[in-house]
Amino acid sequence: MTNRKLIAGNWKMNGSLAANEALLDALLQGVGAPNCDVAVCVPAPYLAQVQAKVAGTPIALGAQDVSAQPQGAFTGEQSAAMLNEFGVRYAIVGHSERRQYHGESDEAVAAKTAAALARGITPIVCVGETLAEREAGRTEEVVKRQLAAVIHVNGHCISEIVVAYEPVWAIGTGKTASPEQAQGVHAVLRAQLHHAASEHAAGIRILYGGSMNAANAAELLSQPDIDGGLIGGASLKAPDFLQIIAAAR
Ligand code: 13P
Repeated sequence: MTNRKLIAGNWKMNGSLAANEALLDALLQGVGAPNCDVAVCVPAPYLAQVQAKVAGTPIALGAQDVSAQPQGAFTGEQSAAMLNEFGVRYAIVGHSERRQYHGESDEAVAAKTAAALARGITPIVCVGETLAEREAGRTEEVVKRQLAAVIHVNGHCISEIVVAYEPVWAIGTGKTASPEQAQGVHAVLRAQLHHAASEHAAGIRILYGGSMNAANAAELLSQPDIDGGLIGGASLKAPDFLQIIAAAR
């Protein structure tokens, strides 16, 4: 089974009204009718702006996080219902920057995954090992533990999630996992999904993220278990992001 690939930009905490306008204008001009699904995951203050820009285009709107809570006294958080009001289709959950700087545990990531699913938002669940974990030979153990936490999300089918493998040592460092290294981990994740839900495993998209760029995208995306990309830095440059989209078929 070959999945339609998903190329998702994670803008992280970058952008401005003017910069977003220019970036989206260039993307919309160049994107045409892509051979893959495309999304941009934008900072929360810009959801309304980007929703209006991408409505009716091939670019879907994503958020970078979602609260596990439905409402109430959770200062600074955004609920899945709020994201819904802005036409949000995807929400990144458990990005390594949130795990690292905001102390998000596997359990918290699972609760966020459930909250997104309950509102029909596709969670892009991030897993990935640190350099120390890789060097200690713990890559498989870490990513399997992180994925296991979201596999049995109450009442929802695992087929509704997107997984993103993002080795922490490759994020923003210019060090990309080699296609073989990435494929190796993706195959481990695929096998784990197969064990949990054999009928759905092949159809669950597993994205690669970590210094994916216009030059290395085609080779990464040609690996059998790499179903797309979650792109940080290169998603802020329209020509680069468009080249990555063109490489996904
Ligand atoms: P870079 O593409 O900048 O390495 O970031 C990857 C990432 O963290 C996407 O979520």
